[in-house]
Amino acid sequence: MDNTLLLTVHSVLRWAVLLFGLYAITKSARGLLHKQDFTPNHNMAATLFIASVHLQVVIGLLLYVARGWASSFANMAETMGNTTLRFWSVEHVFGMVLAAVIIQIGRTKSKKAVETTRKHKIALIYFTIGLLLILAMIPWPFRADIGRSLWP
Ligand code: HEM
Repeated sequence: MDNTLLLTVHSVLRWAVLLFGLYAITKSARGLLHKQDFTPNHNMAATLFIASVHLQVVIGLLLYVARGWASSFANMAETMGNTTLRFWSVEHVFGMVLAAVIIQIGRTKSKKAVETTRKHKIALIYFTIGLLLILAMIPWPFRADIGRSLWP
């Protein structure tokens, strides 16, 4: 697949991840505060968030290979000393994969929990940590050297 198309999809999909993340976090926070049952709506919000994150990771991995970032490992000293190279070959990938793992663990634990309060609480904590990590690893336009546009 053409990697400009992949990059465009990856850039747009970031907004779906952020919106679904905020939605899932809001749902679990309201569920906890208002002592709501864990309804199919709460489940749907979490599913949309998880699905968008997984899809973004798969597209990211394809992009990583297609754009040759893995080759930066051949010269580790140069890569780690250069902000742009280090961000794209190491920080973005590891930060985002870690965020996806945290979100997935939260989803699994929340599903397994029996008490509804615990279901909401676990989702709230893990999803919030995961989303904050995602926010920190996005190449926002204001970030020196690595900044990219908000839309492709
Ligand atoms: C929720 C997870 C992720 C989000 C929100 C995200 C977001 C972004 C954004 C906004 C860009 C800039 C797009 C542009 O230039 O217009 C980008 C680029 C990129 N991302 Fe991600 N990303 C995520 C996960 C990943 C993962 C897991 C990988 C790799 C395994 C990855 C690899 C890349 C690569 C290779 C680029 C392009 C760098 C280049 O120009 O060559 N991303 N990502």
